[in-house]
Amino acid sequence: MSCFQHTFYTMQVFFTELLPLQFDSYQFLIIHPSLLTSFIFCSFFLILFHFMQWWQQHRHKHKRLPPGSMGWSYLGETLKLYTENPNSFFSNRQKWYGDIFKTHILGCPCVMISSPKAARTVLVTQAHLFKPTYPPSKEKLIGQEAIFFQQGAYHSMLKKLVQASFLPSTIRNSVSEVEQIVLKLLPTWANRTINTLQEMKKYAFEVAAISAFGETNELEMEEIRELYSCLEKGYNSYPLHLPGTSYWKAMKARKLLNETIKMLIYRRKESRKHGGGLLGVLMRARSHNLYQLSDSQIADNLIGVLFAAHDTTASVLTWVLKFLHDNANILEAVMREHKGIKSKLATENRGLSWDDTRHMPFTNRVIQETLRSASILSFTFREAVRDVELEGYTIPKGWKVLPLFRTIHHSPHFFPQPHKFDPSRFEVAPRPNTYMPFGNGVHSCPGSELAKLEILVLLHHLTISYRWQVVGNEDGIQYGPFPVPKHGLPLKITLREKIFT
Ligand code: HEM
Ligand SMILES: *[C@@H]1O[C@H](CO)[C@@H](O)[C@H](O)[C@H]1NC(C)=O
Ligand SMILES: *[C@@H]1O[C@H](CO)[C@@H](O)[C@H](O)[C@H]1NC(C)=O
Repeated sequence: MSCFQHTFYTMQVFFTELLPLQFDSYQFLIIHPSLLTSFIFCSFFLILFHFMQWWQQHRHKHKRLPPGSMGWSYLGETLKLYTENPNSFFSNRQKWYGDIFKTHILGCPCVMISSPKAARTVLVTQAHLFKPTYPPSKEKLIGQEAIFFQQGAYHSMLKKLVQASFLPSTIRNSVSEVEQIVLKLLPTWANRTINTLQEMKKYAFEVAAISAFGETNELEMEEIRELYSCLEKGYNSYPLHLPGTSYWKAMKARKLLNETIKMLIYRRKESRKHGGGLLGVLMRARSHNLYQLSDSQIADNLIGVLFAAHDTTASVLTWVLKFLHDNANILEAVMREHKGIKSKLATENRGLSWDDTRHMPFTNRVIQETLRSASILSFTFREAVRDVELEGYTIPKGWKVLPLFRTIHHSPHFFPQPHKFDPSRFEVAPRPNTYMPFGNGVHSCPGSELAKLEILVLLHHLTISYRWQVVGNEDGIQYGPFPVPKHGLPLKITLREKIFT
C-alpha cells in the first residue's frame, strides 16, 4: 500500500508544519480558476482515499486488528489529530480503546502503543520485527547509511563504535572542554534578553562538534557549522526538490559537507593522526581492519550524530530553565547544591571534574523530571517487517508502530500527579519500562550521558552566577521541531551579586 512516507518524520513536524501545508494544497484547489476542475479533482482523491481505506480494512479482515477507528477517509483521523490538542487526542483514544489502538494518519495505518510492556516488546525483545522508519527525504539529508536507519549487523557494528565514543570512561575527559564552552558563552548573555533555545543550540552544537570531530581548527569548524545550519533549515521544511527551496539548498549543503568531511579524513590520514572524537574512533576502527567503513559511511554517521545531539539537548536545556524559573523552591535547592560544590572547588583552586558531576544528586533528579515532563521525543516510529502478533492482536506488515513515550511518562498510574513538576518522585527508581526519555533497546540513545553532562555543567555555572527572568508572560508551546516554550523562551539574564569571596 502506498503511503505518504514523506509526511512521517517526527510527530513534532507533522503536528505543526505539515497540516498547514496540507491545507495549503486544498486552498489551492478552492481558488483554482475552474471550480468544476477542482471539484472533479477533489472527488477523485476522496474516492481514491476511500478505496484505499476500504482495501486496507478488507485485506486484513481475517486478522484480529487492534481496536480503534481508521477514520472516515484519508483526512479522517488526521483532522482530529490536528484540531484536538495532541495530548488529548492520544489520551482520549487510550481511554476509549486501551493501550494499543489503531488509527490512520496522513494515509498511513498506524498502531499506537502506550503500555510499557508492549513498548518493550517493540523496542527491545522483538526489535528485529520492527524496523526504524523515516521519510526518505529526511533520510537523504542525514545520510542513508547513518545509524538510525539501520538494522542487523551493520547497525550493531556502528552502535558499538558510537557507544565507545560516548561512554562515561570516554566523556569524563571532556568535562573541562565542556566547561570552557560554558564559561565563554555565559558572559555573552549578561544584561541581555536572549532567545534561550537559540543560545542553547549554539552550546549543544559546540559540544556535539567536539565529540564528533575531536579537536579541529576553527576554520574547518566554521565551514561545517555553516553547512550544517543550512542542512538543518532544509530538514525542518517541506521537501520540495525545486531550485531555491530550503530543501534544495540543504541537499546542496549536504553534498558539500560530504566533501568537507572527506577532506578532513584525507588530511588526518596524511598526517597519520586519527585524532579524537567519533571521527577518530571510526578511522582507527577502519585502519585496524576491524570494520569496512567507506568515507561516505563515516560522513553519514558524523552528520547523524550532530543531528541527534543538537536540537534534542538544546530543547531539554530550554525546558530546564523554564521549570527552574517557575519553581523557585527547586531553583533554590539546585543553587544550594552547586554552592556547596563551588566552595570546594574554590578552596582546591580547580575547575569541575567528572567526579564532581557525579555528586549532584538533586540536580540530576531535576534533569530526570525535566526529561519526563517535557518528553521532547513524544514518540518514535517503527514499521512491522512482517505480520506480527502483539498482545493478542495482529499488526499487518508495513503498518507503522508508534510507542508513545509521552503518554507513558504522563500516565498517573506510573507517575502520580503527572502534571506536577516534582523531582522528588525520582528519589525512588521508576517502574521498569515506564521511563524512556532516551528510548529503549537496540536503538536507544548512545548520547544520554553526554547530554546529561552538558546540562549539569551549564546549570552549575548558571545558577551560581546568574539570575533569569522570563520576558513576557505567554505560556505556550512552539514546535521547532521539538516542543519548547513559546518564542524559544526569551529570558532576561543578569549577574548575581557576588556570593563568594
Ligand atoms: C537530552 C538530549 C537527548 C534526548 C532526549 C535523546 C533521545 C533519543 C532517543 C529517544 C533515541 C531513540 C530513538 C528511537 O528509538 O527511535 C535516541 C537515539 C539516538 N541518539 Fe539521542 N537523545 C539526546 C541526545 C543525544 C546526544 C547528545 C547524542 C550524541 C552523541 C545522541 C545520539 C543519538 C544517536 C546516534 C541515536 C541513534 C541510535 C541508534 O539508532 O542506534 N543523542 N536519542
Ligand atoms: C550589567 O548592568 C549592570 C547594571 O546596569 C552593570 O553594573 C554591569 O556592569 C553590567 N554588566 C555587564 C557585563 O555589562
Ligand atoms: C558522498 O560521496 C560519496 C563518494 O565518496 C558518494 O558515493 C555519496 O553519494 C556522497 N553522498 C552525498 C550525500 O552526496
